[in-house]
Amino acid sequence: KNKFFVAVMGAGSVGKSALTVQFTQGIFVDKYDPTVEDTYQKTLELDGDQVTVEVLDTAGSEVLVAMRELYMKSAEGFILVYSIIVKSTFYEIQDIVEQLFRVKDEDEVPIVLVGNKIDLDSHREVSTQDGKQLAASYPNCDFYEASSKERINVDNVFFSIIRRIKEK
Ligand code: GTP
Ligand code: MG
Repeated sequence: KNKFFVAVMGAGSVGKSALTVQFTQGIFVDKYDPTVEDTYQKTLELDGDQVTVEVLDTAGSEVLVAMRELYMKSAEGFILVYSIIVKSTFYEIQDIVEQLFRVKDEDEVPIVLVGNKIDLDSHREVSTQDGKQLAASYPNCDFYEASSKERINVDNVFFSIIRRIKEK
């Protein structure tokens, strides 16, 4: 297996698109342009294998959450993003995961939980500990704090989800 299908989900404006574009294109998108749905693809070498990852960048806005179920059915792994500076985005993760386990109806779903915008640490509303704890409460879930802006842990997030799908 060398093709992996990953969906990036989370509340609006948390940095899902910035994370995806930083990973696939190596640039930071400063402007906020709400997503409807975009797909990106990147081929890379990971653990000695050439792999292609297809990334579905989803909408955070409320009107489009009905689409989530569809994405959940088709993707193999999930990058769930919140912003460390907006507490409500962290709570929204729990709703998404609940829906995810309902839709997948499997014991284990590969997930990487991401607390984004750590370059804005002085405005932090969600502690590292809370993020870690939430991730630990799900099976097969990794955790990173990241900055799409400063490219902190961006590659690690995607490497981790690919490895989790591989090993599942
Ligand atoms: P929707 O598509 O509406 O769901 O939003 P999104 O989650 O895709 O957010 P997006 O990537 O568009 O980022 C929203 C805003 O936050 C943009 O202005 C980004 O430049 C900014 N942003 C994203 N990631 C970071 C980050 O790590 N640090 C900082 N400082 N700003 C960020
Ligand atoms: Mg977006």
